[in-house]
Amino acid sequence: MKKAVAKAAIEQVPSGCIIGVGTGSTANYFIDELGKIKGRLEGAVASSEATAARLKSHGINVLDLNSVDELEVYVDGADEITHNMHMIKGGGGALTREKIVAAVSRKFVCVADETKLVDILGNFPLPVEVIPMARSYVSRELVKLGGQPRLRTGFTTDNGNAILDVHGLTIMNPVELEGIINQITGVVTNGLFARRPADLLLLGTSNGVRQIKAG
Ligand code: 5RP
Repeated sequence: MKKAVAKAAIEQVPSGCIIGVGTGSTANYFIDELGKIKGRLEGAVASSEATAARLKSHGINVLDLNSVDELEVYVDGADEITHNMHMIKGGGGALTREKIVAAVSRKFVCVADETKLVDILGNFPLPVEVIPMARSYVSRELVKLGGQPRLRTGFTTDNGNAILDVHGLTIMNPVELEGIINQITGVVTNGLFARRPADLLLLGTSNGVRQIKAG
């Protein structure tokens, strides 16, 4: 299913443009498909070091985001997504760079298999990237919000920070919670992608790829 959506996402890539590329196993399949059409791509901005390395291994030109004003499209996976196109991301720990690249993109295409589509976000623990010295303080604040944060052990983000995975949240208002968590001092960003949701979901199902747009 992940491979099928990765193939389908190629249709969303206009010729001669620069695109943003996400991180994770579904994004990796997409990069492999991109390798086949690299001749009609000007370049790509990567949302992680791992994605940059994979793009380069296919001979795709990787650009610094600071050299680009706007990206036509951003293609990335999700850990959970609702029919409103709100997502939890960051299972792979790349949430901050993913959110930055998404912010610069005109269109966000989410590629996911059908297990990722949910009615309410929160069953997947919400990743929160934190400055290491703020880890305990941010954890206490997250407990006040009703979550159970756990440090992702043995993991450092591409930005040199730590990840707290917050269990036990039932997220009824993702737009509000995204803002509240980002206001905690020491938080770099959290894995709720609700203020800038996806524009299109390509969902891999046993009956093929479904296209879902925000309702
Ligand atoms: C990485 C992410 C990924 O998009 C998310 O974890 C989904 O990954 P996969 O495609 O492997 O299921 O947010 O930070």
